[in-house]
Amino acid sequence: MNVVDILGVLADGEFHSGEELGQAMGVSRTAVWKHLRKLDELGLELESVKGKGYRLHGGLDLLSQEAILKYLPDASADLISRFEIFDSIESTNSYLLERGAHGHVCMAERQMSGRGRRGRAWVSPFAKNVYLSVCWMFQGGAQSLEGLSLAVGVAVAEAIESLGIDGVQLKWPNDVLHNGRKLGGILLEMSGDVSGECKLVLGIGLNVKMPDAGSRDIDQAWVDLSQLGLKADRNHLAAAILQRLMPMLASYDKDGFAQYRERWQSLDAFYGKEVYVSSAQQRTEGVANGVAESGALRLLVGDVEREFSGGEVSLRLLS
Ligand code: BTN
Repeated sequence: MNVVDILGVLADGEFHSGEELGQAMGVSRTAVWKHLRKLDELGLELESVKGKGYRLHGGLDLLSQEAILKYLPDASADLISRFEIFDSIESTNSYLLERGAHGHVCMAERQMSGRGRRGRAWVSPFAKNVYLSVCWMFQGGAQSLEGLSLAVGVAVAEAIESLGIDGVQLKWPNDVLHNGRKLGGILLEMSGDVSGECKLVLGIGLNVKMPDAGSRDIDQAWVDLSQLGLKADRNHLAAAILQRLMPMLASYDKDGFAQYRERWQSLDAFYGKEVYVSSAQQRTEGVANGVAESGALRLLVGDVEREFSGGEVSLRLLS
């Protein structure tokens, strides 16, 4: 038995006595108690009331492969070659970079070393958010993938909208925002031949119900989907993302970013705003002017339009 087995029982948010938990798990009450102490490590608040037992206030919404596949149309499910869900992992992206194959999907309840863009950590508490990665082999090399993280953003934004949340916006190249606050992020990593066949891992992190404890480590304005009124559970949300993401990946080699460009621009949080683009070497101020067919950022600097590609460049509002 591990601690997650106990969580399966406590997930309903009701009281369960130590005896009942022991019976359900086939272990002694002492063993149950030892496991319950570990819930602290997961950042879960266990309430204990004499005579009633234990409960997880508000219950838990655990990931279930069966539930996700139930929500997922066959056309998208058929593009998944392998689907794994971990209770705990270093990072779903690094796992797939090492072991992933074409069509391999990996999710986790928590990440111990979740990775964000530009070497930052991605706060990944247990059973609260979505951490999802997909491995995909591409033929056209890194060049053809420039717009891919933008197309992934469109898939994620549309998935969230399909669950009744309005106002989701995208910030070039791969932030998901709501009212200027960060709701999620997308991290593309690749290995292999940058000019030929390469293995791409794309990871999506979405704040669903960020606990206060976890949020202390986030160094920017953020929001989560529960604050925006999301009613659907994480399984439904994961399915809504995969439903859009898998067919997009399957056709991307052929279709590229062009067909997503207009939609991306309609979701662009910074369009027409005064911004600056900075890299390690320089900072350029201008007016954000959407994106090119390649996915590069278009910036009006005076009368001249300049294009910037992803990589280590960052974009901020001038204020
Ligand atoms: C960003 O910095 O905005 C990108 C964040 C990407 C986080 C996701 S969570 C799933 C996947 N695994 C990781 O380690 N990172 C990505």
